[in-house]
Amino acid sequence: MVTSEAVPFAKTGGLGDVAGALPLALARLGHDVTVVLPRYRGPQAGTLVERLPITIAGRTFDVAFVEHAMADRVRAILVDCPELYDRPELYGIGNSDYPDNPVRFALLARAALEFGARGDQGPDVVHAHDWQAGLALVYLKTLFKDRSGLSGAAGVFTIHNLSYQGLFPPGWMPALDLGWELFGIEGIEYWGKMSLLKGGINFSEIITTVSPRYAKEIQTPEFGFGFDGILKRRGKQLCGILNGIDVAVWNPEHDPYLPEPYGPNTLAAKDASRRALLDTLGLPLTPEVLARPIVGMVSRMVVQKGFDLLADLADELLTLDATFVLLGSGEARYQTLWQGLSDRAPDRVGVRFGFDEPLAHLIEGGADIFLMPSRFEPCGLNQMYSLKYGTVPVVRAVGGLDDTIDNWNPRTNSGTGFKFRDYTPEALRSSLEKALALFRKPKSWRAVQRAGMAKDHSWDASAAEYVSVYEKAITLRRMGNRTASV
Ligand code: ADP
Ligand code: GLC
Repeated sequence: MVTSEAVPFAKTGGLGDVAGALPLALARLGHDVTVVLPRYRGPQAGTLVERLPITIAGRTFDVAFVEHAMADRVRAILVDCPELYDRPELYGIGNSDYPDNPVRFALLARAALEFGARGDQGPDVVHAHDWQAGLALVYLKTLFKDRSGLSGAAGVFTIHNLSYQGLFPPGWMPALDLGWELFGIEGIEYWGKMSLLKGGINFSEIITTVSPRYAKEIQTPEFGFGFDGILKRRGKQLCGILNGIDVAVWNPEHDPYLPEPYGPNTLAAKDASRRALLDTLGLPLTPEVLARPIVGMVSRMVVQKGFDLLADLADELLTLDATFVLLGSGEARYQTLWQGLSDRAPDRVGVRFGFDEPLAHLIEGGADIFLMPSRFEPCGLNQMYSLKYGTVPVVRAVGGLDDTIDNWNPRTNSGTGFKFRDYTPEALRSSLEKALALFRKPKSWRAVQRAGMAKDHSWDASAAEYVSVYEKAITLRRMGNRTASV
């Protein structure tokens, strides 16, 4: 598996969770997995297992491979090349990406393949995630096509987010050892630029994305970000597999970041988390505040996540029967807005900016409602964590949010959350108000909480689906036909 993030080594979003947990679930099904990712700055000791010089367009990098056991049958190989990876952040500072990202991720791809090609028994499958790993599949079918350890390996590419396309000026082609014959519409050219995402799509046997609904959406102009045609062309080899959640890490019954454990039959103990959360964010623990439903958010603060919609509603949010808690990092304009709300209503809005794993857990535990009004959402993990934590999701019915949440039915009081379809402030507000009103009916509320907690979103079923994708990819590879239907 080639990825730019994997828990516990590196994470900026859901990719890190998925690339950390899926390998463990594959191992439980009997497979051997090596996860290759950069060794970023930080305390990551590990064991040095190999050292290789890797030359890209005449520039030689001295690369060390550092191994960490992740579980039985699963190891991480961290690619150590300080001149490229020993930096304060993973991809760039603030909103500006490191200018040498193409070579940083080309080296990741080359290092992963060089490592896999040692000896004669290479991997059966190279599974690459998002644009950062797209070149692994391009090189697999070009520079490495005759390397004995790798020549039979099938390529699987997973799209976690189509809006990040790895677009760079074409001048990078020779600088990454990519021949100009690859710079065509069936290769990696995209409107005059090079797209590493397109490389992953066009050089893999099978493409997956992270929910069935998103697999359909990305083949339409509304959600395709210009890639709908490219994906439709490969529609027969494209499928959606819902992400799972790692219930060893995200489980209120043994979450070290919660003051007291709780489960479906001990929901009253969730109260300790509510109090701890309010307290952590500086909200007063008055009877009035304690009685109000707490609406939580843990999110990258970008348009994708619906922050423009929330901005339209900002003033109205303060008039609702709710306390808002937000943990986020991202665009400055949204931080300013939410800081302003918190300054105006310090007993109604608590905010924390930055990346804070313990607080993310405490929000899942301490909030009553979890809000995800996304414009688009390939899968989304937080709504599944929320189900597990008895924190009722209010979501827009797109992508994985639509696939994982059953809308509340007022007649039967069934459902696991609240969904709205239109991307409008009114639709969001109306859905949120339904949730806030139901919170005031404790018996009905408990039933919705418990219905969500009873859902099984652990990785086992999804990992089995990946195994069947790997098998099909191997078959296609043997047939030497990437466009046959599977
Ligand atoms: P995305 O990958 O699009 O950001 P997901 O819902 O798939 O969305 O996953 C986001 C993951 O990142 C979750 O595990 C969430 O808890 C975590 N996360 C997001 N923002 C923060 C933050 N500021 N601090 C801590 N964890 C965060
Ligand atoms: C992306 C998507 C998110 C998904 C995650 C993991 O970051 O935005 O919806 O859950 O990848 O697949």
